[in-house]
Amino acid sequence: MLTMKNIVKEGQPILRQKAEEVPLPFSKEDVKIANELLEFVINSQDPIVSQKYQLRAGIGLAAPQIGVSKRIFAVHVRDENGKLFSYALLNPKMISHSVQMTYLDGGEGCLSVDRDVPGLVPRYAKITVKGYTPDGSEVQLKLKGLPSICFQHEMDHLDGIMFYDRIDKKQPFTPPSDLVTHR
Ligand code: NI
Repeated sequence: MLTMKNIVKEGQPILRQKAEEVPLPFSKEDVKIANELLEFVINSQDPIVSQKYQLRAGIGLAAPQIGVSKRIFAVHVRDENGKLFSYALLNPKMISHSVQMTYLDGGEGCLSVDRDVPGLVPRYAKITVKGYTPDGSEVQLKLKGLPSICFQHEMDHLDGIMFYDRIDKKQPFTPPSDLVTHR
């Protein structure tokens, strides 16, 4: 299983690279990576397991964050109604997004970033994502709220983008003009 020792921290060049598409059919190795990412995120939210292995809680993790430059990530996150979005996705693509923007109240964090970076991170309020689950089936997801923000954060990792790249340096706390707030 993955632990904090496997997590690549900011400053490492791999976090700034554009990750590679994963060839289909997925290799055992690529499926294993996807499953391990999801297992880590689930473990990190489990009070007993996270305590035992000293895991910092997260809602998503992308392959570059464990030193693998491939287009794979996992999320385990609930929306405001308690609906769980638990996915390992390979070759994810945002196929559409709203004009309306949103941001997470209080900003974002990242398992690869061991410091608070204050500021609002503008995200699309709603997105549609296509991708493949580890068994090779294609899925299409319509997302809003925290799951939408989380998926966008993880997909950014596949393009070498860190959440703080999106903070307006001059006006870090000025909300995007067309927005919905999430607390
Ligand atoms: Ni992150």
